[in-house]
Order: sequence, then C-alpha cells, then structure tokens
Amino acid sequence: MKAVAVTRVHTRRPDAIAAVPAASPPARVALLGTGTVGTAVIERLAQWAGTPLGGGVSLVHVANSRRAASATLGMAPREAFRVMQNQPRASRLDQVPIVLHGDGAQVVVDATASATVAERHAEWLAQGIHVVTACKLGQGTGLAQWRRIRAGCLRGNTTYGDSATVGAGLPLLRSIRDLRAGGDRIHAIAGVLSGSLAWLFNHYDGLRPFSDFVREARDAGYTEPDPREDLSGEDVRRKILILARSAGVELESNEVDVESLVPATLASLARDDVDAALPLLDTPLRERFAAARKDGCKLRFIARLENIRDGKGDARVGLEALPEDHPLAGGAGTDNKVAIWSDRYRVQPLVIQGPGAGAEVTAAGLLDDVLRIVRRRRACRSGFNTR
Ligand SMILES: NC(=O)c1ccc[n+]([C@@H]2O[C@H](COP(=O)([O-])OP(=O)(O)OC[C@H]3O[C@@H](n4cnc5c(N)ncnc54)[C@H](OP(=O)(O)O)[C@@H]3O)[C@@H](O)[C@H]2O)c1
Repeated sequence: MKAVAVTRVHTRRPDAIAAVPAASPPARVALLGTGTVGTAVIERLAQWAGTPLGGGVSLVHVANSRRAASATLGMAPREAFRVMQNQPRASRLDQVPIVLHGDGAQVVVDATASATVAERHAEWLAQGIHVVTACKLGQGTGLAQWRRIRAGCLRGNTTYGDSATVGAGLPLLRSIRDLRAGGDRIHAIAGVLSGSLAWLFNHYDGLRPFSDFVREARDAGYTEPDPREDLSGEDVRRKILILARSAGVELESNEVDVESLVPATLASLARDDVDAALPLLDTPLRERFAAARKDGCKLRFIARLENIRDGKGDARVGLEALPEDHPLAGGAGTDNKVAIWSDRYRVQPLVIQGPGAGAEVTAAGLLDDVLRIVRRRRACRSGFNTR
C-alpha cells in the first residue's frame, strides 16, 4: 500500500494531493481578514472548486474585525464571504479553535495587519493549529514573541507558514532555510524588500516632486493608506528581522539600524494632515537624487545583514546610492530583489527577484503554505515523508 502511494506521488507531482490516499480529510481553514489580501484568498479558493487543490481545503470560518461566518462542514468561498457580511454577530478570536476542531489539519490563515491576531499565533500553534500568515507582526517584532512562535511549533508539532511575510511569497525564506538545512552558513543578505519603496525609487526622476510620486503610489495601493508607514522603514525593519532570524541571527528589533525618510515634522502630524505636508519630503530627496546621479548612481532603499558570526550580525535599513550596474540597482515596478551570500554562494550571491507586493501573489503564497501543510500531513499518514 505504501509503495503504491510513493510511486504515484513521484510520477504525478502536480496532482500529489489527489494521488495520496483519499481517506485523508481536507484541511480545515479559518481565514482571518477580508481586505485586499483576504479577498484574493477567497477568489483563489473559489477558482479551485472541483479541482484536486480545492479538495484539499475546507473553509470553515471567515472573519474580519467586525463579523464572522462559520460552518462545521465547510463553505463555498464566495458564499462564505457573502454570509459573513450579513451576520449580525461580532467576530471573536476565541471562536477560532472551536470552529477548527474536527478531522484534518487545522489551519489559521492570517490576512490581517492586526497585532491582536499576531499575539495569538504562538498559542494556536501550541494547541496543534497550524498558522499561515501574511502579517509580519508575529515574527517580525520582539524576539520574545518570535521565540514563543518557535516554541509553539515544537509543542504543537505544527507549522508556521510565513512565505507571504517577506517578498509576498517569493521563495526567500524557503531558500535561506534550505541552504541552512544543507549545511550552508549564511554570510550576508542584502536587498530591496519593500514593493512600495521599490516602485517609488524605480520611478522618481528628480524632475517632478517626490511627494507627487508618493501620492501616485498611495492611490495605486502600493503604499499603506498612511505612506509614512512605508517611508519610515519600519516595514523593512520587520522584514530584515524575519530574514535574519531565519538565517540563524536572532536580532532584537532595536538592533536594526533604520534610516527613516520621514522628516521629524512630518512624523509628528496627525494622519489627516499628512497629505498636505508630503512636500516636506521633496527637498531632501531631490538633493540626494542629484548627488547620486552626479556619481553615476541610483537611489535604492536597501536592507542589509552583514558580519554574521556566532549568531550575531549587523543589520541596517536605509537609502543607498548604488552604481547603475550594481546587482540590486535593477528591477522594475514593485519588484523585490534579494542577494544571499553563503558558503556555496561565496562570491556570486544567489539572487531572487520578482513582484514583492500585490494581493494575488500574496494570496498565492499563503495558499501554497496551506497546501504544503496538507501535503506533509497526508504524506506522513501514508508513510511517505516529503516537504
Ligand atoms: N497588500 C499587499 O500587497 C500585501 C503584500 C504582502 C503582505 N501583506 C500583508 O497582508 C496583511 C493584510 O494586508 P491587506 O492589504 O489585505 O490589509 P487590509 O486590506 O487592511 O485588510 C485587513 C483585514 O484584516 C481584518 N482584521 C483586522 N483585525 C482583525 C481581527 N482581529 N480579526 C479578524 N480580522 C481582522 C480587517 O477587518 P475590517 O475590514 O473589519 O477592518 C480587514 O478585513 C497585512 O499584514 C499586510 O502587511 C499585504
């Protein structure tokens, strides 16, 4: 019986879910967050209806911060969203383990930007609930919380799916972990980790005011509604922390040196006053752009992790003037681009590049992580261990 399962999984890889024993129940999934990313998750799940992929996942709970809909036997994704919107009752995180209870892997998909939800990750993992997240507030903040998440995985024998937290599903974290699993030590990491800042510096030409580009990026949905969140470098701080910790460098948040692009006056304003004050960005950035161009360089917002030794390293985030032919100076649109140096990539780094923001790629990254959990569980049950 086991030998048959092994052969079929190997020879029909894309249909691996269908090829493992049908007795395995689908994963029970609770989706938290129905904003830009959550809606794209619902759409992707809806497109899987009637396919082997869809057969691996049962959506039993959908919630935003106000409402929730649950069904023990699972719901059609678009219908679940519609039902949720018409629910009179409030959404409560305490409900989540209760509605997930049943046969099959239990998975929370966190498509929120909520610290309250992120604080539950470790507890759910320890209870045997897998967590798949686009939110960086779980493992991109304090080291203590990151350690609680690791401990939760060990205690509950569960997986923390974090592919969508950095690079919106690009194989960054996976590559770092695979290198380390193969005995490599990571020497350094450097890259463009923010889709919105990548877009801004790919487009800024020093002619039109920088604030015009910020408004354009915000209106296109590339930045957060308050663009100071991107321009402050805080989002990139969280991403380099997540990459560093996956590389075995357990940095505390304040050990990353972050250069904010937001002048103090702009930083102190109430949110409603930000738009009118965006021109405060213009002069400093025009000067930096002109100085870079004089040296034949391009401005890029770069995160770096260097001097790695004994589990420690130097991390910094900020604007750099890079020669035009520098490996990190290229790219287009909202592309992320990350270079990884390790024992085997000592001189020429491994470079991973691609769209690092956007609802569709992020939703795909989240659901890839869910499917990995489904595959691993089913393979374990059939006696064939795979990743
Ligand atoms: N957008 C992207 O391209 C992208 C790329 C990579 C990663 N991410 C990350 O993905 C996450 C979601 O981003 P987004 O753009 O989809 O944000 P969004 O449009 O603001 O949606 C956030 C959703 O989370 C819900 N929420 C907040 N607190 C909640 C709670 N306690 N329980 C259940 N739901 C709750 C909100 O509910 P209400 O509707 O009731 O407010 C909303 O539906 C963020 O962490 C973001 O950093 C986004």
